[in-house]
Formats: sequence, structure tokens, C-alpha cells
Amino acid sequence: MAGFVYEHLLICVSVLVLLFFIVKRSRSRRLRLPPGSLGLPFVGETLQLISAYKTENPEPFIDERVNRFGSIFTTHVFGEPTVFSADPETNRFILQNEGKLFECSYPGSISNLLGKHSLLLMKGNLHKRMHSLTMSFGNSSIIRDHLLVDIDRLVRLHMDSWIDRVVLMEEAKKITFELTVKQLMSFDPGEWTESLRKEYVLVIEGFFSLPLPLFSPTYRRAIQARTKVAEALSLIVRQRRKERGSGDKKNDMLEALLGGDDGFSDEEIVDFMVALLVAGYETTSTIMTLAVKFLTETPLALGQLKEEHDEIRAKKRKEGPLEWSDYKSMPFTQCVVNETLRVANIISGVFRKVMADVNIKGYTIPKGWKIFASFRAVHLDQDHFKDARSFNPWRWQQNNSGAVTPVNVFTPFGGGPRLCPGYELARVELSVFLHHLVTRFSWVPAEEDKLVFFPTTRTQKRYPIIVKSRNECCY
Ligand code: HEM
Ligand SMILES: *[C@@H]1O[C@H](CO)[C@@H](O)[C@H](O)[C@H]1NC(C)=O
Ligand SMILES: *[C@@H]1O[C@H](CO)[C@@H](O)[C@H](O)[C@H]1NC(C)=O
Ligand SMILES: *[C@@H]1O[C@H](CO)[C@@H](O)[C@H](O)[C@H]1NC(C)=O
Repeated sequence: MAGFVYEHLLICVSVLVLLFFIVKRSRSRRLRLPPGSLGLPFVGETLQLISAYKTENPEPFIDERVNRFGSIFTTHVFGEPTVFSADPETNRFILQNEGKLFECSYPGSISNLLGKHSLLLMKGNLHKRMHSLTMSFGNSSIIRDHLLVDIDRLVRLHMDSWIDRVVLMEEAKKITFELTVKQLMSFDPGEWTESLRKEYVLVIEGFFSLPLPLFSPTYRRAIQARTKVAEALSLIVRQRRKERGSGDKKNDMLEALLGGDDGFSDEEIVDFMVALLVAGYETTSTIMTLAVKFLTETPLALGQLKEEHDEIRAKKRKEGPLEWSDYKSMPFTQCVVNETLRVANIISGVFRKVMADVNIKGYTIPKGWKIFASFRAVHLDQDHFKDARSFNPWRWQQNNSGAVTPVNVFTPFGGGPRLCPGYELARVELSVFLHHLVTRFSWVPAEEDKLVFFPTTRTQKRYPIIVKSRNECCY
């Protein structure tokens, strides 16, 4: 009996003690910011971040902080206290709660240059509608039935002019731009496309400048270029509206925008097109260039890729166009695509603004703060990918036992309501590009070139190569 009372008391006391700790922890939990360092006043840790990302190996900036503070930490960059997440679960939570707890947030320079009706800046229901319209335009059946023919033809056409020294990043940018213009408004490449592209380059340069026309000539030039681009596109939109009236319909994105039930204004359509051209341009051309760089530095992978594509070519008549079934029989190419996206991470992560106090993993992130979901930090984490910092396309092979990567760990295209609508298109474009490159040419780097990650991922010299025709093959 005494034993029972004693035991009973003991249980009560331990429950109480436990409760006390839980209450105490959850109270401090509600108030606890993620650990970290805010650095210097005003500049915070911005300079450390920039100097790290200007090197070939920016990882120490994140590694050091993850080691000290854990995978969620506080820093102070670009003028604001920012929580940095290198944690896949937290990243998923951020992506999924877009529009509820978080909203996308871009610096003033970028939002001014994109225009207020661009998909990247839209919110709420309008965003939902436009996002799904964009998704359906780039889905795999549209690519298979309509876009692939043009991708194949334009990539091939573009490579016809390649002799001797080629600056790969420049060429990839031209190709990507031509493809997007074709898909948006059915124009074949020509002088018009190229002069529009030159204006675009100026607009994009303005993204990373201070949005103060008085102080920044780059920004001033960008605004002027933005006006020119908008004028050129408005002209096309007006013309197409007229043509539609007389029953002449084309099968492109512009048609979908003009023909929808939404009754978009010319200005809305122009902003939308400006943003789409921006979103696909740097990203896709960078991934093309870096895939070639990594392959060049990994001859075994390049050899296997060549074999895969020579086999596809061998089964076709000379110059026969690539078909969807060909695209679907490039398993190793898909491994190369994923591995390039993993290692190089064109979009290293996404910035969001916190809309209400949010509790994550025992920390509280105050309303109004910025949060950065780093995809790059997860993709290069040894806990998620074995030997994570090296380029190894074989890790994606189905029969490779270590290949089972858990979902949510690999997110090069983001996720949730803002999942990249171009994710399949980018993969197809890269695959077709690699197909024609390896079957038609052999190449060597023309100069030594290095990767940098600020302000965007690219190589310092835009990867110049010397190409030679592979006459022995099928062309
Ligand atoms: C390798 C190539 C590409 C990569 C790595 C990439 C990556 C991404 C990522 C991570 C996002 C999410 C941004 C966020 O959550 O804030 C995004 C959004 C977007 N991407 Fe891509 N993208 C690529 C190619 C393309 C292409 C070819 C297009 C054109 C069709 C495109 C159009 C867009 C658009 C319009 C958005 C905004 C979606 C929204 O805010 O609702 N992307 N992209
Ligand atoms: C792709 O989008 C079109 C509409 O643009 C739709 O009819 C089709 O069912 C979609 N296909 C897939 C695979 O989602
Ligand atoms: C590449 O990554 C995607 C996720 O973005 C995945 O669905 C696909 O299975 C991967 N491909 C290979 C060959 O592992
Ligand atoms: C996986 O299969 C491919 C052929 O499909 C083979 O070449 C490769 O060696 C295999 N890899 C492993 C790790 O078994």
C-alpha cells in the first residue's frame, strides 16, 4: 500500500516536472529566434556573402553557419534580418505555404523592371489562374505535340553556323531566347528577335543595380530598354488582336492569353510576356552551358552520353527530327540533367517575406522578416547526397542502390503554388541541345574558365570552346 502511494506520488511529481519543462520550453520556444549572427550594423553579413559567392566554392559561408547554429539560422543580408534555411522540411513548408504564411518578395529593381502584371509578382487568385494557364501551356503533351518540332529545328539551325571558336553561354542565350519568342508568339529568329534580345540584356543587367535612376546609369539604361521592349511587344499584341478578328488563329502562348475568358488588357499581356522571357532566359542558357562544362570535365560521362545519342541517331534517317519517343529514350541524359541542376543550382533558393509570426522547428520568425529557402544548401548536403559536392550523374541511375533520393530534397524548380511552369520545357530544351551538340561536334575548352555564383550562377568567361565537326557521324 505504502509502495503504491509512493509510486503514485513519484509519477505525479515526474508528470509535474515534465509539464513544467514542456511549458517552460514552449514559452521560450514562442519567443526564440533562430540562432545566428547579425554581423555589422546596416551591412550585416552581406559582404561576406557576396565575397563567398564570387568564388568557385561558396559553400563555406553556409557550412560554417550550419555547423555553428544548425540548419536554420539568422543572418542579416541586403539590408534586412533574414532567416536562412538549409533544411528540406522547412523549405517544403515555406514553398507549400506560399500566399498563406509567406509571400514572394523581390528587390525594388527587379519588380520595377518586370512590371506589375508579371506572373512572378502576382498574388492571390489572379496568380492561381495565370499560373495554371502557364503550366498547361508548358505541359508535356503540348511539348510533345507542338513545341518539340520547333525546339529541334531551331537548335539545329542555330548550330549550323558554329565553326571554330564558340562562346557557349552566348550561343545558349541566343538559342533560349529564340525558342521562347517562338513559343510565345510564333516568330522565327531574325533581326527583330536579335534586336529585342539586345534590349533584354540591358533590362536584366538592371536587376542587380540600385533602383535609383539618378545614381545608377545601369538602372537608367534598363528602364529605357524596358520601355522599348514593352513598345515592341505591344505592337505585336495589337496586331494579333486585329488578326484574330479576321479568323486567323495561331497556336501559341499569346493566342492562349488573347483567347482566354479573362479578357486581359494589352498591358497585362505585355508584362506577362516580359516576365516569361526573363524567367526562361538566364536559367535555361546557364544550365546548357554548365552541363557542357561538367561533361567536358568528366570524360567518362561524356562518353556514355555520346553513346546514348549516337544510338538514337543511328536509328533515324539522316537529319530526321527528334521525336518524343527519342526524348523518352535518353535515360542517361536525364541523369546528367538532374546532376547539373543539383550541383550548379541556377536558382540557389527563394526569398520570401513572412506574413505573420511563424513557428518553425521550435523557433519563431517574426512577421515582416525575410526568409531564404536555400535549395543549394540542401542539394550539396552530405546527409542527403553521398559525396554531395562532386558531379556524378550515375547517382541518378535507377539501378544504383544509393539513388533513392527522398522527395522534397531535390527541388531545382521550387514547388507549391509557384512551382516553375517551365520545368519540363527546360529539361526538353537541354536534352535536345545536348543531342545535337554531341552528335555533331567534338570540342575542347578554349580557355580556362571558372564558376561564380554572384550575382547569378555562371562562368567568368562565358565558357568559350573550340568546336570541330564530327564528320564520321550522321550529318
Ligand atoms: C533550368 C531552367 C530553370 C530553372 C532552374 C527554373 C527555376 C525556377 C524556380 C526555382 C522557380 C520558383 C521561384 C519561386 O518560387 O519564387 C521558377 C519560377 C518560374 N519559372 Fe522557372 N526555371 C527554369 C526555366 C524556366 C523556363 C524555361 C520558363 C519559361 C517557360 C520558366 C518560367 C518560370 C516562371 C514564369 C516562374 C514564376 C512562377 C510563379 O511565380 O508563379 N522557368 N523557376
Ligand atoms: C496540357 O494542357 C492542355 C491545355 O492546354 C490540356 O488539354 C491537357 O490535358 C494537358 N495535358 C496534361 C498531360 O496535363
Ligand atoms: C530527376 O529529378 C526529378 C525531380 O525533379 C525526378 O522526378 C526524376 O525521376 C529524376 N530523374 C532521374 C533519372 O533520376
Ligand atoms: C546501371 O545500368 C546501366 C545500364 O542501364 C549500366 O551501364 C550501369 O553500369 C548500371 N549501374 C550500376 C551502378 O549498376
